[in-house]
Amino acid sequence: MRNLLISAAVICVAAAAAFLPSSAAAQAPAAKPKPAAAAAVAVTGDAVRGEKLYTARCGACHGLDANRIGPKHRGVVGRKSAAIPDFTYTAALKKLKVVWTPANLDRWLENPTRMAPGTAMALRTAVPKDRADIIAYLAANPLPAPAKP
Ligand code: HEC
Repeated sequence: MRNLLISAAVICVAAAAAFLPSSAAAQAPAAKPKPAAAAAVAVTGDAVRGEKLYTARCGACHGLDANRIGPKHRGVVGRKSAAIPDFTYTAALKKLKVVWTPANLDRWLENPTRMAPGTAMALRTAVPKDRADIIAYLAANPLPAPAKP
């Protein structure tokens, strides 16, 4: 079960990476992530543990499918930052302009204020394994594939 989930997360990350337009990658200002390193963050994560951490630590402000105090998260791995149209982001997050690769999510969760000074999200997740597990959970929840015509 655990291996299955991890494989699913890896496939999702690989799929997300494959669909990123190269222009989006080129726009990312800081630390252009190498695909292998980016995937490694998700590979080491345990999505089952990550779900529990997410519910406990992020759930007061975030959900997968509804905006709350923070924006909704389904499909966030591979998405551009500040991309939910009906969520009001701070100027700090709007000007960040990164793609939420696992590596960038890891930086964000470690210290959001360092990455985007002035952001409304201040929660730091200090333990690397906690961040990796949460990222694995997010990677395991992509947007549904568009319906075939
Ligand atoms: C106290 C509320 C709060 C908590 C707790 C919180 N966040 Fe946030 N989060 C926010 C807000 C508000 C924003 C938008 C920040 C802005 O516009 O500056 C945000 C933004 C984000 C973004 C950027 C999304 C985007 O669309 O660009 C990610 C990713 C994120 N949060 C992940 C998490 C994770 C994972 C956790 C749990 C470890 C978490 N957050 C906990 C309030 C919170």
